Amino acid sequence: MSVTNPLIEQDRQHHVHGQTNLRQHAEQGPVVMVTEGHGVYIKTEDGRELIDGFSGLGCTSLGYDNERLAAVAKNQMDTLPFAPTFYGRSHPKVAELATRLTGMAAVPMDRVMFQCSGSEANDAMIKFLWYRNIARGQPERRKLISRWRGYYGNTVAAVSLSGQPHMHANFGLPMDDFLKLSTPNYYHFHRDGETEEEFSARLGQEFEALVLATGPDKIAAFFAEPMQSGGGAILPPAGYWPAMQAVIQKYAIHFHVDEVVCGFGRTGYWWGAQAFDLQPDSTSCAKALTAAFFPMSALMFKEDFYQDMMRNSDEVGVLGHGFTYSGHPVGAAIALEALDIYQEMDLIGHVRDVSVPFLEGCKALMDHPLVGDARGIGLFCGIELVKDKKTREQFDSALQIGRRVQDAAHANGLYLRSIPPDRISFMPPLIIDKSEVNEALRILRIALDTVWKEL
Ligand SMILES: Cc1ncc(COP(=O)(O)O)c(C=O)c1O
Repeated sequence: MSVTNPLIEQDRQHHVHGQTNLRQHAEQGPVVMVTEGHGVYIKTEDGRELIDGFSGLGCTSLGYDNERLAAVAKNQMDTLPFAPTFYGRSHPKVAELATRLTGMAAVPMDRVMFQCSGSEANDAMIKFLWYRNIARGQPERRKLISRWRGYYGNTVAAVSLSGQPHMHANFGLPMDDFLKLSTPNYYHFHRDGETEEEFSARLGQEFEALVLATGPDKIAAFFAEPMQSGGGAILPPAGYWPAMQAVIQKYAIHFHVDEVVCGFGRTGYWWGAQAFDLQPDSTSCAKALTAAFFPMSALMFKEDFYQDMMRNSDEVGVLGHGFTYSGHPVGAAIALEALDIYQEMDLIGHVRDVSVPFLEGCKALMDHPLVGDARGIGLFCGIELVKDKKTREQFDSALQIGRRVQDAAHANGLYLRSIPPDRISFMPPLIIDKSEVNEALRILRIALDTVWKEL
């Protein structure tokens, strides 16, 4: 970081950063200040180029420059920079995008509501579940089940759904009605001698016990990401989703699948639901929907759900929900173009091809003394850093091992994200090629070596 750049100081003094230690920021200023991006590389204000190892925040699927997306955005801004979707108003791009998305969902979906972020999409789904259940004469069906380490966003309801203790602490959250299950992190939480299937069966039993203790008729939905992302890229163990879906089916629980990170190719499938054979009743997506060129999310559900919601129209009139920028024409135009690009470049074929050396390279890191586990799918891998590979004991959090690996990676040319406690969520832009994958892996090993030597 250049000490002479006045913007560093301005940021330190005036900008409040989310998901950041405020004191550390006030004392040290920004970790990096990114000024430009090209392909899978970002450039920092002091002139360094780094490979992006976490796709911005799991969103820059097409990297940092795309003439087609830029041209479409300009054209839409020249033609119609804004149009509301409240009060039954519409515009061509949003109608086209709604049709396109429902047509490509993992299981048939009929209706889409657009928002500006993943948090808002999940928050809207919580509201719609409650709204629908009241319309059906089941106002007591309000409980929402999710998992520890899950990440569903930061609005008051979405964060209550999230299973990240630091996002609840000192906010007086979560709200009532939000229940949690264990995270499916087999590596850390399996018992001695327990196989992946046995661990998964145990988590299925935990789910059923919670459903029975709560009362199946009190449960509005179970929310889950196909593969947990903000929790540290946790690949579900063998047998996990079959065990969970058996409970969902047995008690007819509404299953909301959060595709905010997994959607649009991250796992080597269009949807994470397809990667793990999930049967969602509704789904939310964002991030790669616009390749992060515009903030936009989509919430999709089925016609029967919409029909129930419509019953409220007779009683209360308009649906009392929406955002000024829902279905923004520029976002919709960009999303349509991004979907075209994904299809034309055979995004899924590309991710599957590149994921072979990517996942092999990640697994090869397990020979490193700091790496306890590395598992993933597609271009999405979680790497566990541990003190003792035999006992899986973790480092004292004060040592900030993950953060130090991240900093060492930055110093050597890889932009990385560590997630406490000491997990690396490795998820480069989906356009990355094999030589860039190798380069990123090479730098990650250097970063691990650097921290290991310090220890
Ligand atoms: C799985 C998942 N769901 C929801 C969200 C919230 O999305 P946003 O940050 O756009 O509100 C995130 C954010 O990273 C996420 O990873």
